[in-house]
Amino acid sequence: MDHFEIKGGTMHAEDVSLETLAEAVGTPFYCYSSATIERHYQVFADAVAGLGDGNPLVAFAVKANPNLSVLATLARLGAGADVVSGGELARALAAGIPAERIVFSGVGKQLHELAAGIEAGILQFNVESEAEILMLGKVAADYGKVVEISIRINPAVDPKTHGKISTGGADAKFGIPWDRVPAAFALAAAQPHLRPIGLAAHIGSQLYDLAPVEDTIRRLGELATQMVAAGHTIKRIDCGGGLGVPYREGAALPPSPADYAAMVARVTKGWPWRLMFEPGRMIVGNAGVLVSTVILTKDGASRHFIVVDAAMNDLLRPSLYNAWHDIKALEPKASRIVATVVGPICETGDTFAEDREIEAVGAGDRIAFMTAGAYGATMASTYNSRALVPEVMVKGSDWAIVSERNQPAAMMALDAWAPWL
Ligand code: LLP
Repeated sequence: MDHFEIKGGTMHAEDVSLETLAEAVGTPFYCYSSATIERHYQVFADAVAGLGDGNPLVAFAVKANPNLSVLATLARLGAGADVVSGGELARALAAGIPAERIVFSGVGKQLHELAAGIEAGILQFNVESEAEILMLGKVAADYGKVVEISIRINPAVDPKTHGKISTGGADAKFGIPWDRVPAAFALAAAQPHLRPIGLAAHIGSQLYDLAPVEDTIRRLGELATQMVAAGHTIKRIDCGGGLGVPYREGAALPPSPADYAAMVARVTKGWPWRLMFEPGRMIVGNAGVLVSTVILTKDGASRHFIVVDAAMNDLLRPSLYNAWHDIKALEPKASRIVATVVGPICETGDTFAEDREIEAVGAGDRIAFMTAGAYGATMASTYNSRALVPEVMVKGSDWAIVSERNQPAAMMALDAWAPWL
């Protein structure tokens, strides 16, 4: 469910017309609906409330959408944050997410990032290798602090999603192979400044099948029980994120937060530990659209092309993952056409949809790429020296630019003349 609807013949985000926004800020731009973000967070938080020790932590995966206003919206609802870089940590803190609700994940945290997490006093690090255990133990010692960590396991399961966003397979770079977890726990416990208190997993993104997630959580429980038997104290189990969202109207729906929570409740029944979750896409995916204007249309030898002012640098998912985003006209007409929707970038990969039936649009008309709130703006680049597009947030009938369009002059200002030129 989202808050992008046709009202009076034109698409609105909540009570704001996207055409009005397009006139005001120019295209392309991302538009987020606060009500949708809030609703999705609340639905998820309500679904998992009461699981585990009764005080679960929903730590939003900042990578899905790190905009400060998005994070601040979630902070006010009590969300925590899952961060994977010093930059994400700084954003989460700046947006008002308390350090005690922040978990630091990632396979290659650098010394300065470990230090930043320790300085901020975050809840825990999810550690992904024996080498990282030693690095973090040393940095924590330098700071004279004792740091709580969870071991991220690699459960060696097939999450049954796109290969580029699978993280749980035995050959993936993520986590410590599950059969080495007892040794890793012992190694961590032997570091005077580390306290291993939990286990974590995240097996992939855009998941439609709960069975591999269930296997993974069960494995986390078995390992936790084993660690307790070995004399360790377990406080928290982090189930990761990954729940899919519907990208295509009319296609099969992913499991709902209620389905997911029912599965977790079944597997974790009687667990005394605090549960943690790291949803990203599920919270913000359907809360955002990318609005674009048709520059021109052209007929190739065998295809009708619609060339729009958004491109792969603005929304990378179609070219990187062959991802589907519904394309809707802001002012839909009754007629439909079959078109290949492309951006202006000089690569054939700059294609949003191939030979797709969409509402008829021509030069000057505006379209929205739906479900672009997760992994949209955050994966943008300035390829072809295109400006990063602005982000706008709507709340009821209010709206605000929450990230400015960067200008060519600002981008060029980062370059410098080599002194010999
Ligand atoms: N926790 C960890 C440790 C993660 O690596 C991720 C996502 C999440 C949580 C959140 O997963 P979500 O709930 O959003 O599925 N750029 C790709 C998605 C990459 C996901 C990476 N990790 C895309 O556009 O589909």
